[in-house]
Amino acid sequence: MSEWQSFTSHVSHLECSATGERYEAGKPHNTSRAGKPLIVRYDLKSVARSVDPAEIARRPADLWRYRELLPVRRPEDVVSLGEQFTPLLPLAATSRRIGGGELLVKDEGRLPTGSFKARGLAVAVSMAKSFGATRIAMPTVGSGGASLAAYCRRAGIDSVVFCPEDSPSITVSEIAFYGAKVYLANGALRDCNRLVAEGCASVGWFDMTTLKEPYRIEGKKTMGLELADQLGWQLPDVIFYPTGGGTGFIGMWKAFAELGELGWIGAKRPRMVAVQTTGCCPIVRAFEKGHREIETPWTDIRTNVHGVRVAKALGDFLILRAMYESGGFGVAVTDEDVEATRAAIARDDGILLSPEGAACVAAYREALTSGRVKPGERAVAFNTATGLRTAMPMVDRRVDVSKPVDYAAL
Ligand SMILES: Cc1ncc(COP(=O)(O)O)c(C=O)c1O
Repeated sequence: MSEWQSFTSHVSHLECSATGERYEAGKPHNTSRAGKPLIVRYDLKSVARSVDPAEIARRPADLWRYRELLPVRRPEDVVSLGEQFTPLLPLAATSRRIGGGELLVKDEGRLPTGSFKARGLAVAVSMAKSFGATRIAMPTVGSGGASLAAYCRRAGIDSVVFCPEDSPSITVSEIAFYGAKVYLANGALRDCNRLVAEGCASVGWFDMTTLKEPYRIEGKKTMGLELADQLGWQLPDVIFYPTGGGTGFIGMWKAFAELGELGWIGAKRPRMVAVQTTGCCPIVRAFEKGHREIETPWTDIRTNVHGVRVAKALGDFLILRAMYESGGFGVAVTDEDVEATRAAIARDDGILLSPEGAACVAAYREALTSGRVKPGERAVAFNTATGLRTAMPMVDRRVDVSKPVDYAAL
């Protein structure tokens, strides 16, 4: 973590994302009175007076180098597991094979707990600690729970996690291993959401449900800040992002708006592409129909790409707004395509992606084919988690050590 001695918060207030109603900073908040996500607002003039890209460049390459654009007020509240920069890796061989251009993968699997969820939870747990939370609850399909459990232990806070029973077992075990109370629910994520809401109402747990507290977006926003920073305060032409609850999507779009207002980047914005799978693609379908929100939640979720298993995101209107404003679009790929793409990238480029990351590359190929992305453009695909938690084909090639080996035939 960056060293810093004193710190001034530049948060001016929080604001309802639907009505614009203002809320006071510096106290715990859930959703707005309208039941919509709250957005943290900063006094960007005061940020601009305090820091500039040259000063940022002198700091350690981690999430906390952007502290003036984060809500944590006191250094002693920071809960950190080492949120270092994640690399931007060219997928040169893959892109050549599919007739693409510059395709970069931002490999978020390198973060603590192996996923981008660490960004949101490092910041949100730090804020919860500053508010004196003693027990935090969250519904999750997996990786968010692992980050919550780890950051809570780091902070000395208890956590309670509800997962649908078909969540990846390795992640459920990991959550328990960090000392969280994790329960498998015989229902879907929305049932887990309800359990958390009821527990919060009846026994006062601190609610860390996606977009029900305002600070996970702020942590995820650092994906956008870091991307701009790594590219010399330039943004790519197009971003492919695996979209479930949409925190990252919304957070990055917010990051670009703040950087634009600060004058650290020019007017150019990337086209934001929401990637989902055909077994659960409510955002992609809503976009295709020109809707401003998801009208009917997805009922029959059939996909092994767990990060996109969200029937109706609380922030659906914010995701769709970013897609429209950026001139972006949505792509739904099949699970089969995701698996084949993941295998081909490992073979061609030596990078093991998560299914969510592979879905983004499959969507890039599909966008090249449909002409929505040109080979001359710079594209960034987000690999939101390590590929190591997802099973790979078994190996059945054997060698008998009791017999002579024909090495030339190997
Ligand atoms: C690996 C992975 N990728 C993507 C997502 C979707 O993230 P977001 O909530 O930012 O849309 C998730 C959420 O569970 C995830 O676990």
